[in-house]
Amino acid sequence: MNFLIINGPNLNLLGVREKSIYGELSFESYFKDLKAQYHNINLEYYQSNIEGELINEIHRVGFKYDGIVLNAGAYTHTSIALADAIAAVNTPVIEVHISNVHKRESFRSKTMIGKDCLGTIAGFGLNSYRLAIEALLFGLDER
Ligand code: DQA
Repeated sequence: MNFLIINGPNLNLLGVREKSIYGELSFESYFKDLKAQYHNINLEYYQSNIEGELINEIHRVGFKYDGIVLNAGAYTHTSIALADAIAAVNTPVIEVHISNVHKRESFRSKTMIGKDCLGTIAGFGLNSYRLAIEALLFGLDER
């Protein structure tokens, strides 16, 4: 089974940026632990601050991988192009947010990509990613 976690803009600064919201851990440290919990899955990670690169990555894996976990960062709230990319591929995509976007500024409650995703997980810190993987595995069992 092949799963890809895609992180969008500013998520390369996890552990450095706004620690009271996003925590103290870098994504690399979290990802190392996460991978160790899923020996029987090929779990990969990609990050870019560039919208088109995120779209290219969705296209690259979106017809062959079993699941994508996407934290599109602020592009979540603005990007029709990302929404179209998610709609274009076959691989199920789960929208993820570290923070509870509904408890923050009102513009963060709006998601352009949510309608094209299998579901959304938000507000559980970095564990949101693990919950998304569980949701993908659960979905695969159900199919
Ligand atoms: C975020 C929430 C977005 O509103 C914000 O722009 C981010 C991170 C989150 O994981 O909580 O960059 O996606």
